[in-house]
Amino acid sequence: MSEPAASAPPPDFVRRLNFWARDASNESAALLAAPALGLFAHLPDEGSAPVSLETLAARSGSKPRGVRAVVEPMVALGFVCFTPGQGYALAARAAFLRAPDFLARLERARRFWTQTPRLADALRTGTESELVAWFREAFASVGPATEGSSEDYEDRAVRNSLRTQALMAASRLGLLGRLSTGPGTLEALAHVTEARPESLRVLLDVLATMGIVATSGAEFRFTPDAARMLDAEGLPYFERALPATQAYWEALGHLDEAVREARFRLDLRDPEVARRIYQENASRISGIFKSHLRLSRQAAALALRMRSLEGATVLDVGTGSGVWGAAFGLVDPSTQVTYLDSPHVLDAVKPHLARFKLEARSRLWAGDCLTVELEPSAYDVILLPQIIPALPAPELPHFFARMARALKPRGLLLISGYLLTDRRDGPLDALYFALRRYVSNEGDVLSLPEFRAHLEPVGLGACRAFDMPIQQVVIAHRGDVPWPDAG
Ligand SMILES: C[S@@+](CC[C@H](N)C(=O)[O-])C[C@H]1O[C@@H](n2cnc3c(N)ncnc32)[C@H](O)[C@@H]1O
Repeated sequence: MSEPAASAPPPDFVRRLNFWARDASNESAALLAAPALGLFAHLPDEGSAPVSLETLAARSGSKPRGVRAVVEPMVALGFVCFTPGQGYALAARAAFLRAPDFLARLERARRFWTQTPRLADALRTGTESELVAWFREAFASVGPATEGSSEDYEDRAVRNSLRTQALMAASRLGLLGRLSTGPGTLEALAHVTEARPESLRVLLDVLATMGIVATSGAEFRFTPDAARMLDAEGLPYFERALPATQAYWEALGHLDEAVREARFRLDLRDPEVARRIYQENASRISGIFKSHLRLSRQAAALALRMRSLEGATVLDVGTGSGVWGAAFGLVDPSTQVTYLDSPHVLDAVKPHLARFKLEARSRLWAGDCLTVELEPSAYDVILLPQIIPALPAPELPHFFARMARALKPRGLLLISGYLLTDRRDGPLDALYFALRRYVSNEGDVLSLPEFRAHLEPVGLGACRAFDMPIQQVVIAHRGDVPWPDAG
């Protein structure tokens, strides 16, 4: 009899693990920074007149843009109420956020933030017993929490970032890799990971509360869901998200300082920092090029349903790994694609162009998209994949005006990435991405009305959003191209 085919892990489990790997630290940071900034003391109760963002910022001695980055996720989670045009109030059900003992527990967690990345070392050396004890204490009793309750807030603020660091430590120690090959006793796992058994036990217990590890007799093993998700193929893909999360850790631990003083520990306006982070980003996307190419090719097919791309000139702005430009290189054998980014990032594009035999129809352009000279009416398609949040918000009117000028008649401007709801109260992953942009001194994530407000004045008045897997796509033009469903 043949083995039954391994089934896919449940989507909920996959979502949870991916959340802990990518976004949980953003959420914890926002929920810990809000009390540190004293925001709850300055918010009126639900039912009284809300306060504007500017008033809230002034009362807490902070910058409005920073306060907004912290408060918007709290609105999405239901702890803060938002009335468009009026402002914010503390949700009635979140009154626990004024209780001193509750706030003291959050403050204690905040003080551990910068130590938690040292968990793997602590498990090996036996030092930092206070840190290991903190993990043990935080996960001593984990019960189900009703959404919006104090337990829910505490779990998100305190435990979520610890879950992220537990995954990081398990990855760094090689524990996840070891468990993906089968069960092992505590001693065997301690031997492979070079950790002290009694300390490693704390990590295994945390992973057990996360549904990743189970025991049978004296052995520890992956749960069936973890075994399916973190197998030989899935584990490297999963682990690829961890370094990017770690890169923002310190900055997120000082989120309150950024909001108060506009001082950024990870400042992507610093060319050296941008170079490091974007090089890593381009090589990470290169590692998952295939899955991103599926998305960008879908967008290229969408553009093709709107107009012919025969001989089209295409500009990919902030190209990164080149995955968007490549899709437009592949959509028609006569397109000419220009890949624009800083010089050190462009190296990541070359191998992909070679693999798809696109070199002859490609041009690599090293430059700053805010200042490079763009010929008027030069491009049939301009791609802006995930670049808008990287640009300073005050530059956007000028930037969009330049892009519009560079578009030919019947030209398409195609923006991809996260899109916020019209009220800017979700989706949560987009708000967390926006928080990372804020804490690294970059730009913002926008809603469709906000894009329209930029695009209409520069003549790109026809503008629509399209749902795609992973990201959303906004297409804008001068009203001279039919939409794909126009018949
Ligand atoms: C978030 S990455 C997106 C990469 C790629 N477009 C994608 O969707 O995978 C942003 C890219 O924009 C580039 N970038 C940021 N500011 C830029 C600027 N002023 N001029 C040119 N490129 C820039 C960065 O180097 C980085 O590769």
